[in-house]
Amino acid sequence: MSITLAFDVYGTLIDTHGVIEQLKKTLGDGDIDMVKFSMLWRDKQLEYSFRRGLMKRYAPFSVCTREALHYTASTFNVRLTDQQESELLACYAVLPAFNDVGDSLRSLQKAGVNCFAFSNGTAGAVEGLLEHAGIRGYFDGVVSVDPLKTFKPNPEVYHYFIEQTNASIEQAWLISSNPFDVLGALSVGFKSAWVQRSPEARFDPWQLNNIAIEPTITVDGLPSFVNHLLQTKN
Ligand code: LAC
Repeated sequence: MSITLAFDVYGTLIDTHGVIEQLKKTLGDGDIDMVKFSMLWRDKQLEYSFRRGLMKRYAPFSVCTREALHYTASTFNVRLTDQQESELLACYAVLPAFNDVGDSLRSLQKAGVNCFAFSNGTAGAVEGLLEHAGIRGYFDGVVSVDPLKTFKPNPEVYHYFIEQTNASIEQAWLISSNPFDVLGALSVGFKSAWVQRSPEARFDPWQLNNIAIEPTITVDGLPSFVNHLLQTKN
């Protein structure tokens, strides 16, 4: 059976901190630290997805994004107008891809590797995002957790990926910059590459069955992963 790759979308292929430029435009140059604003917004968005998964109170990922924006604005003492809120949320649909994504996906496609986008976002949101970023054509498909009404890292979503793509768990890789996603995939038997998108990013110390668990490989960007895969694939 051949290798199948599951690429996480937000934070791995697509730069969620692309919102910083829009934050500057929408909220002006006042004394808000837009980098901190963007980080809190992203952290809360993920936390809300974990909570909704645990509480079994699913709502689309865009709802987590919106509620996290409200929380973040309130923390920074910003009262958003409807217009400002719409601008900031609209920006989420047109976030840019990281610079190393296009060439890496092209090499994988040329080598005939099965590539899928695999995300907490709804299929519609992810399709639009990848299309806008000019990278949709490199994927064999998009798998969203949405039909399961839960989020990563629920083990069900990784099994669902395998089912949807006719892959085998032993030959599946998850590629993600999000340590919780890497751990979720390793926990069900995928191989997983952690993409350390910034030198400050840290991988969570974690154990499974009392054994420390680490990514199959840690890379500083997608090209290093592609080199590793293509060298070891046959
Ligand atoms: C995703 C989130 C985890 O794209 O970033 O699934």
